[in-house]
Amino acid sequence: MRGKLITLEGIDGAGKSTHMAWLAAHLRENGRAVRETREPGGTALGERLREILLDAQNKMHAETETLMMFAARREHLQLVIEPSLARGEWVICDRFTDATFAYQGGGRGVDWERLRVLEAWAQRGLEPDLTLLFDLAPEIGRQRAQDARAADRFEQEQGDFYQRVRAAYLRRAAEAPSRIKVIDAARTIEQVRQHLADVMRAL
Ligand code: TYD
Repeated sequence: MRGKLITLEGIDGAGKSTHMAWLAAHLRENGRAVRETREPGGTALGERLREILLDAQNKMHAETETLMMFAARREHLQLVIEPSLARGEWVICDRFTDATFAYQGGGRGVDWERLRVLEAWAQRGLEPDLTLLFDLAPEIGRQRAQDARAADRFEQEQGDFYQRVRAAYLRRAAEAPSRIKVIDAARTIEQVRQHLADVMRAL
């Protein structure tokens, strides 16, 4: 039986990583074979593209950035996601195409319709079975994300960049309400887990 693709989304600091680890453990406890992966990245080439994309020293045009995200994604789909799903594994992916709509579309202003063309081209009809959108006000995300690491190229963005990213995520959720579940990430970890457990039971 074919596995399922679950993607996790949200602005930086929304708690995706914490919830991803819990979700993977929860699914394994329920007898699923789980493959955890991330974007940009997930393959040898994709991880090299990730380094270039996140390196705060690099400057690049927003459309170049967009195409590199999709290049990494195509490689990831071909080498990891599709084969894992075919083997019956559940693939949990830290970010996917909704992030491109949010960051490159909302954040950088790349045209939404052009993103749709690239989405169709790269995914060839494959859609996540479920997307968990951890929604949080950017001010709270910023406070939470204050960790020891240096800010990457996206985390350095100032002003209303993250407001636009958040709004674009919510627009995507409104366009695909049955696929994208909006999770209020301002609540406690325990409350969010309860919500996640309910969503997984339904899936
Ligand atoms: P992130 O997933 O937050 O990793 P970490 O938790 O290690 O910081 O970092 C990935 C960054 O890439 C994030 O700032 C969002 C950005 N991104 C895009 O701009 N577009 C995309 O399509 C994807 C997948 C990620």
